[in-house]
Amino acid sequence: MATLPQDPALDSAFSLLRHGYRFISGKCRTLHTDVFRTRLLLRPVVCMQGAEAARLFYEQDKFLRHGAMPARIQKTLTGVDGVQSLDGQPHRHRKHLFIRQLMSPARIEALATLHQAHWHAAMAQWPLNRRMVLFDEAQKILCQSVCAWAGIPLPASELNQRAQAFGRMIDSGARLGLAHWRGRRARKSAEQWISAEIKKTRATGPENSDSLLQAFAWHRDEQGHLLPAGVAAVELINVLRPTVAIAQFMTFSVLALHEYPYVRAPLESSHPDYLDWFVLEVRRFYPFFPFLAAYTRQAFTWQGFEFQKGMLTLLDIYGTNHDPRCWYQPDTFNPERFSNWPQDHYTLLANGGATYEHHHRCPGEWITHRLMKVMVRFLVDNLHYEIPAQDLSFSLADMPALPKSRMIIRPVAYQP
Ligand code: HEM
Repeated sequence: MATLPQDPALDSAFSLLRHGYRFISGKCRTLHTDVFRTRLLLRPVVCMQGAEAARLFYEQDKFLRHGAMPARIQKTLTGVDGVQSLDGQPHRHRKHLFIRQLMSPARIEALATLHQAHWHAAMAQWPLNRRMVLFDEAQKILCQSVCAWAGIPLPASELNQRAQAFGRMIDSGARLGLAHWRGRRARKSAEQWISAEIKKTRATGPENSDSLLQAFAWHRDEQGHLLPAGVAAVELINVLRPTVAIAQFMTFSVLALHEYPYVRAPLESSHPDYLDWFVLEVRRFYPFFPFLAAYTRQAFTWQGFEFQKGMLTLLDIYGTNHDPRCWYQPDTFNPERFSNWPQDHYTLLANGGATYEHHHRCPGEWITHRLMKVMVRFLVDNLHYEIPAQDLSFSLADMPALPKSRMIIRPVAYQP
């Protein structure tokens, strides 16, 4: 049994800020390992990468999620006491609510239809030749679609403010200073808004409606108690906020269409699978969440290395999505790699790994995939646009990463 390889740096917090998405894989390369011990802000942390590490990370007798998410992320991105922080039976019970509400094909199609209609409505009003910041428009259209789908009233006059608030919650977890505090304020106001909707729903009694608002307002825990209104709001925001976050992948989809123009022909043809492969490749290739966090639940040995109980452990998402052992030429954008993908659960970690029911894998993964398809189809089939000169670069040190210009397009023709 060996001790874990040790990062020789006294503290690697600065290196994490400097290297961002490439921090774990970069250290792994230097130390010739898939797992190492380091210190982040003086705290000992284990970092891991690769499919075998992912398989280990999702073993529930070895890892716990409760308390693993840093407070600054809970106060901005995820909220406190949400499904992400639960383990065991309480997690499975709460997760079932998300799976029921988010993963039925009929529900996903209803959201996709709404989303498509909102893109058409937005474009019908957009003056041709006027520049559009695609990331900002996508956030608004996603916010509008998901609120309508979830049964949450959203007056047109509030759309910009609400979409921007979700955007700030997503953007601010890893930021410092003002940007971070803006994210905290945005979360507070979103929680007040959605808590008020939950309370209103409860005050008027159960309705004969299958909206998400009704389902979350009336959800009961394993003891049969309604969730505190604040927690029900955190969970409903766990649907709204990440749906708005799909704008990041939509933006990268447009970047991919621009930078790898050879994908257009198969997308325009009636190839039955190419759009799925394209969306999968965008989700693999481009950065989104950098890593996942959990605590070791007990001491154990893995691949000859000794893990102590209670160690904060980070699993590298970006590095695993770019691991050459899992992906041939991982830094090449190549949708066709998915033509013979075995669909295993530990190599493509963009939305987490393992199972939806028993693990923390993202219950919005199918929605993400479907809405990206709606948007790419719309861009390819209904819109003719130009890409004006702009700074399309993005930095892997920025978490979350986004092209600097937020992807400006100039629509020149729209076909309803
Ligand atoms: C969890 C990614 C969209 C709802 C997660 C996790 C990741 C992720 C990496 C953590 C997995 C883990 O801890 O093992 C993404 C990405 C998205 C996205 C990249 C694209 C924008 C969505 C959407 C929804 C959603 C659209 C809801 C409609 C959730 C929830 C969890 C989660 C509720 C917590 C699940 C649990 O703890 O059991 N997501 N997600 N996500 N996601 Fe997503």
